[in-house]
Amino acid sequence: MNPPDDRFARWLAALEAKHLAELTFSEVSRALRALSSTYVERRQKLASGAALSGTGKRAAFALFYGPLHHLLIAHIVTSLPEATAKIDMLLDLGCGTGASGAAWAAACRAAAVGARQGAPRVIGIDRHPWVLSEAAATYRAFGVSAKVRQADVAAFTFPSGPVAVLAAFTMNELPDPERDALLARLVERARRGDRVLIVEPLAGFVARWWNRWRDTFEAAGGRADEWRLRTELPAIVAKLDRAAGLNHREITGRSLWL
Ligand SMILES: C[S@@+](CC[C@H](N)C(=O)[O-])C[C@H]1O[C@@H](n2cnc3c(N)ncnc32)[C@H](O)[C@@H]1O
Repeated sequence: MNPPDDRFARWLAALEAKHLAELTFSEVSRALRALSSTYVERRQKLASGAALSGTGKRAAFALFYGPLHHLLIAHIVTSLPEATAKIDMLLDLGCGTGASGAAWAAACRAAAVGARQGAPRVIGIDRHPWVLSEAAATYRAFGVSAKVRQADVAAFTFPSGPVAVLAAFTMNELPDPERDALLARLVERARRGDRVLIVEPLAGFVARWWNRWRDTFEAAGGRADEWRLRTELPAIVAKLDRAAGLNHREITGRSLWL
């Protein structure tokens, strides 16, 4: 993986300054513990927006999970063949703070310099109003041209032209029928030439539907991968990790790519 550039460090410093101006470090680390328990033990509350209720959880989401997701997606898209080849438009489904979409778009821009092609424009889509301004700031921090839209990804009308679609840690929050309907649409889009990348945690209980989706992607000519990235965590992320007792020795995830 390419080492994160200055933009990554500046983005993280700005997030740290912003969120730790409003809250103390121990408030954020306590909120991180609560947030990770929402993701692990109280998953049924995700649909009601429980992960992003309150300034503490929002800070933990932005300052901890955002950088981890950014590093993982940067690693994945620079490892998968053709993932950074010319993309005009990138749809970041369930964009959250924009960390993952910005990682893919920035990797495309880095690849584009040698290949003499443009960087993708991004549309970040999320149902939660708070994340949208965070996402806009993240895309800006990485020099990515982007728009954000408040919408349900299950009902979103895709642009008619070619796109690359990213759903990073989003699909597991959708109800089964909506997720299955979206899968069918994504496979159909990929048949017509779009690129699709879905990323989820490794833990099986988070995405019980994974094997079925993996089979569908593989049958359509795609691939499934598991990732274990050993990298030095940025200082604030490592400090939060220790304080919340989460112990990320590696950043892990799994992906479907078509
Ligand atoms: C775990 S976060 C991941 C955010 C981001 N993709 C990342 O990698 O950091 C999941 C995001 O999906 C959004 N989300 C969940 N269900 C959604 C839906 N049906 N429509 C739009 N956004 C949704 C949530 O609001 C949240 O911001």
